[in-house]
Amino acid sequence: MDGLDTLKAKYLTAVAGASDESALEEVRLAALGKKGEISALMASLGKMEPEVRKAAGANLNLLKDEIDAALRAKKAGLADAALDERLRSEWLDVTLPGRPRPQGSIHPVSQVMEELTAIFGDMGFAVAEGPQIESDWYNFDALNIPPEHPARQEHDTFFMARAADDARPPHVLRTHTSPVQIRAMTAQGAPIRVIAPGRVYRMDMDQTHAPMFHQVEGLAIDRDISMANLKWTLEEFCRAFFEVPSVELRFRASHFPFTEPSAEVDIRCSWEGGQLKIGQGDSWLEILGSGMVHPKVLAAAGVDPAKWQGFAFGMGIDRIAMLKYGIPDLRAFFESDLRWLRHYGFAALDMPDLPGGLSS
Ligand code: PHE
Repeated sequence: MDGLDTLKAKYLTAVAGASDESALEEVRLAALGKKGEISALMASLGKMEPEVRKAAGANLNLLKDEIDAALRAKKAGLADAALDERLRSEWLDVTLPGRPRPQGSIHPVSQVMEELTAIFGDMGFAVAEGPQIESDWYNFDALNIPPEHPARQEHDTFFMARAADDARPPHVLRTHTSPVQIRAMTAQGAPIRVIAPGRVYRMDMDQTHAPMFHQVEGLAIDRDISMANLKWTLEEFCRAFFEVPSVELRFRASHFPFTEPSAEVDIRCSWEGGQLKIGQGDSWLEILGSGMVHPKVLAAAGVDPAKWQGFAFGMGIDRIAMLKYGIPDLRAFFESDLRWLRHYGFAALDMPDLPGGLSS
């Protein structure tokens, strides 16, 4: 059988030239595959004379073995090269320092806002919002605080600047979250049940006062809401928030222009051993102002006071956060001290919910 040397040279060159495993597989199929050139020659042996067949068969087998061996050797070489390449490209410096763990934590004020949103949400209150820069109409007039009213002075208001030739009353940094009552009722009408947590501003600064602090407003308007509903709602909230089996609230008659009657609410507590305990003891701590929404306030927001009535309250968020988590100084809330945040902060992925436990 002639031409075996040519075949051998052809396939050994092709094997040597294959640049990857799939090119090599093509060479194998062309030579040794079912329809390959060598296989075809093998098949033709049957038509040969017996003596010729013997010699040709031996030579063909030899050629087949040689090509097969070259294929295997090349395949191993390619696999090694591929591994080398991977080792080179996927090189990893295991002596590098690990990635730092996230340092951030949730501020107690944010935590408490989430907690109270969960509790009031469970009672059917939606969250409403309003701007921190408010017109004096929303912050005062609509809440039954006319321009000459002494309550305007009591609020230690920050005023925004106006151009010298602008006679309109200046905007203010809202002094309480009560203007959100007006905005929510105007937008939604009655019946309505909302809370409005957010920042408020007053010119005041000592261990228990900061010029910016947080309040949560509550508002429930329907056909026959009374002070009894207010009392139940607040007791229910305090029990859930402070995570104690029972709380006692004391309603003290008070005065706000936007509620009638009005009450300030204290919670029973004890300071025994310098440790604050909610729900027991001989001390009382004021936590909020409240009352039945004044008919003039309903009217200012487009709600008919002959048909609708309800309660409102405004609670200091920083104050109840200090009480619940034993934080002694309000000013630390706003100092962005990382050591303080690590101590009093909360894990970022622990969202407070009622079934899961608020602060666990
Ligand atoms: N806005 C009052 C304050 O800032 C609190 C309050 C809200 C009182 C709603 C009664 C009703 O002190």
